[in-house]
Amino acid sequence: MLQKVDKFIPIAKPSISEETIDEVVGVLRSGWLATGQLTQKFEENLKKYFGGRSVMTFSSATAGLHASLMAIGLKMGDEVITTSLTFAATANVIAMLGAKPVFVDIELDTFNIDHNKIMAACTSRTKAIMPVHYAGLSVHLDPIYEIAKKKNLRVIEDAAHAMGTCYKNRKIGTFGDIQVFSFHPIKNMTSGEGGCVVLDSESEQKIIALQRFHGIDRSIWDRFSKTANCYYDVVFPGFKSNMSDIQSAIGIHQLKEVETMNERRRYLSARYRTAFEDMSDEFVMQETPRFDFVHSGNLFPICFQDETRRDFFMNFLKEKSIGSIPYYTPLHLFNYYQKTFGYKKGDLPNAEYVGSRIVCLPLYYALTDAEQDYVIDTVRKFFR
Ligand SMILES: Cc1ncc(COP(=O)(O)O)c(C=O)c1O
Repeated sequence: MLQKVDKFIPIAKPSISEETIDEVVGVLRSGWLATGQLTQKFEENLKKYFGGRSVMTFSSATAGLHASLMAIGLKMGDEVITTSLTFAATANVIAMLGAKPVFVDIELDTFNIDHNKIMAACTSRTKAIMPVHYAGLSVHLDPIYEIAKKKNLRVIEDAAHAMGTCYKNRKIGTFGDIQVFSFHPIKNMTSGEGGCVVLDSESEQKIIALQRFHGIDRSIWDRFSKTANCYYDVVFPGFKSNMSDIQSAIGIHQLKEVETMNERRRYLSARYRTAFEDMSDEFVMQETPRFDFVHSGNLFPICFQDETRRDFFMNFLKEKSIGSIPYYTPLHLFNYYQKTFGYKKGDLPNAEYVGSRIVCLPLYYALTDAEQDYVIDTVRKFFR
């Protein structure tokens, strides 16, 4: 018998403490809502979290990825190697700059980009590799950085799912070229909307700072505070993708809590794994790789053996008040990517196999054991 739940269990839900709400109210009363001291503080705290590396906050990870590509000098006609099993943002920002996303197939077990296929995809136009730590599981970074070194490429890690992920005992964001994190509410921590870029290169930081705020050579805080000089220069036609102090107030508190929240996400993922151990005839779970890793627990994907059952399954869950999401439809199957770059069905067999069978189950800090038991029972009931 299934337990009854009287409320919908979504795929994801942010947990916002009372302390955070008080802080946001404080910002609203302060008279300073845009980028200011709290954003500076959030960036300093993130810098500590990422082992002292430079951190620049953004209105979204999408904006951070776009600015990072500009910072490495991506131009019309260049190519960037990435995965097709990801959110549209990853490749859209490449295409926006007139470059081509070169999709490399994924591993069938980890659902991450297959590093063994990257070298063959490199051409004289390749400028960067953009791996995605899908669901919060680190890609195998050592071989990717080796290829980048050999071919003189930059690596921009789409770390939207990877706040708290570790690769070989090192936290993503504490090493490597450029990492971009998302603070969208579905992610491990949130600032409402938002993201950040982590990097070392000072020349790239300069371009990113200009790109983030109209190409103006000084921050607004520098211009509007009491002692400020209000004149500025525009050195570049930049965009407007800075983070506000309202968002930073949320982010500062979430950052303090992210490790605790991730612990629970990992605990809930482990419970799903145990509960579904005997279900491999029906679906497989994301395989654990052969290197030391810590999963961030951002998503819990399952991959059906029989693709024809996925929609029935998602509808069944919906009828039982449970959310689920087919993350992701491979990007090379979308109209724009087929029309613009000539991709077609059959180009990436593994991404297509997984993309047509994958479903993510509810996973978030506030999901109770009882709610998860209900999800588990419902999943098992569907297959009975
Ligand atoms: C893999 C991936 N990359 C990039 C993004 C973009 O993040 P944002 O919504 O913060 O722009 C997302 C968002 O869902 C994502 O899942």
